[in-house]
Amino acid sequence: MCGIVGYIGKRDVAPLLLEGLQRLEYRGYDSAGIAIHASGKTGGLKTAKAKGRVRELESRLPKRFAGTTGIAHTRWATHGAPNDENAHPHVDAEGKVAVVHNGIIDNAAELRAKLTADGVEFASETDTEVLAHLIGRSQAEKLEEKVREALRHIEGTYGIAVLHSDFADRIVVARNGSPVVLGIGEKEMFVSSDVAALVSHTRQVVTLDDGEMATLKADDYRTYTTEGSRTTSSPETVEYAAESYDMGAHDTYMHKEISEQADAVDRALRGRIDDRFSTVHLGGLNLDAREARGVRRVKILGCGTSYHAGQIGAQMIEELARIPSDAEPASEFRYRNPVVDPDTLYVAVSQSGETYDVLAAVQELKRKGARVLGLVNVVGSAIARETDGGIYVHAGPEVCVVSTKCFTNMVVSFALLALHLGRIRDLSVADGKRIIDGLRRLPQQITEILAGEAEIKKLAGLYADAKSMMFIGRVRGYPVAREASLKLKEVSYIHAEAYPASELKHGPLALIEPAMPTVAIVPDDDLLEKNRAALEEIKARSGRILAVAHQEQEKADHTIVVPKNEPELDPILMGIPLQLLAYHTALSLGRDIDKPRNLAKSVTVE
Ligand code: G6P
Repeated sequence: MCGIVGYIGKRDVAPLLLEGLQRLEYRGYDSAGIAIHASGKTGGLKTAKAKGRVRELESRLPKRFAGTTGIAHTRWATHGAPNDENAHPHVDAEGKVAVVHNGIIDNAAELRAKLTADGVEFASETDTEVLAHLIGRSQAEKLEEKVREALRHIEGTYGIAVLHSDFADRIVVARNGSPVVLGIGEKEMFVSSDVAALVSHTRQVVTLDDGEMATLKADDYRTYTTEGSRTTSSPETVEYAAESYDMGAHDTYMHKEISEQADAVDRALRGRIDDRFSTVHLGGLNLDAREARGVRRVKILGCGTSYHAGQIGAQMIEELARIPSDAEPASEFRYRNPVVDPDTLYVAVSQSGETYDVLAAVQELKRKGARVLGLVNVVGSAIARETDGGIYVHAGPEVCVVSTKCFTNMVVSFALLALHLGRIRDLSVADGKRIIDGLRRLPQQITEILAGEAEIKKLAGLYADAKSMMFIGRVRGYPVAREASLKLKEVSYIHAEAYPASELKHGPLALIEPAMPTVAIVPDDDLLEKNRAALEEIKARSGRILAVAHQEQEKADHTIVVPKNEPELDPILMGIPLQLLAYHTALSLGRDIDKPRNLAKSVTVE
């Protein structure tokens, strides 16, 4: 949510920053802006901002906009509407300071009132502008001190980058709650809220901690705390190459990411399976066998798609390890003064590792002494750092706002956790082996499902006229239905509801009519007959049915047949054709697939 990028070096900065913004656009895309130290005699700061996408900003850049140092921002509105004025960077009254900011300043209204009383005129409705004025008004000598002084007044979260026309040799950045990553180059330095904007230039990065600041000069950087004491941070090498962030031969990231799932699952399994004991090794769990045996409950916390992955995960853990488990939206959990039990294992699940509601839940749990694991995709992200241990899901970079491959890898990672906990408890060697064999079959079966894309595309064409769709599933199939319904509504804007098939007759059956098609998850498990009965009920009300099943369903108008795995692992496969269904439905409706309206990939604010 909101992306910042900055550069200091010898190259022409505007094209570099625009390219960086394009790569960060998934974080927010309602407006964008850029500020540079202008080269030439006049010098000083120059800014350009525009409502809309980065390409709007590009088309609006003034002719003379040359410089070799600058900062830029892509916004997802929190304070104030998306318009030119509210776009970042924000400047102080004299136009000497420019600030880009990711996060929320909680006491902005109070600070704004004070500054206004002192005669400051505000040009925007944003919280960030307060910071620009505070820095501009500071009497401190050095830019670092000015920023530090301003931050002392701020309550809230921030990742910021600051330019000052009197200090043209540097960019000062700071982090508290919103990611800031430095990219270390040869006589040039970068800063960004995400490595996605850095990897085409350098793979050497330094991730700032909360409470840390940094000064970037073309040939040098140093990090220190907001109190001013030096910190040591040597660069780490980013795992993924620049190509992982490119679309390649695909038209959208969503399509690319759906297509990558066989490889992604393979990565999640690699090096983790232990055939000798029919279990898995999860090196980062930091939970020894005795501790694992002491776990009496598992509580999984996540938001959106990750919450749905958690629901499937909870069922897997309950089935394989026989530990009572459930999942809850982190956003709800943190507000209800939860009872925190020392024998409960908490698992925070997040693609980005930055989602504020999840992070806040983790912090609340830690404060109360709970043991919290992370199931996270982005290595070194805030949630990965805050948790006591965890599992990286290894899906690789996911750029499309709606999550696909990461969801699949999360569910696979939960299967690994369930197997691990199960084999420490009462899951037999035979069952452990059965699950391992099933896991090994997944990549090939995913490839088979994806090979049926043309057929699914045709089906999408048949259902794209629906105003509303019902998704049903029972027990293992229910969270699959929920995720499929979320996927469809996020990307196609068709209203969709998910219900347990068992609840149909307790209300939603009233909605069934030819104009309200139902997507039914019908695995060949011990509930097959029950699910078939639900299809009958729908058919009797003239409802159209699209089934996802292991065999053709007589009562359904159409069936997508998926390969069968072990019953516990079937949910992993049954959701995949429905990702393609959502994708092709959205495509046929002309939607902006990678950037659905009103959504952002990582929601780093409340
Ligand atoms: C946002 C995104 C969703 C995502 C959710 C959780 O709402 O639009 O696609 O599932 O955040 O994100 P996380 O990074 O924590 O998995």
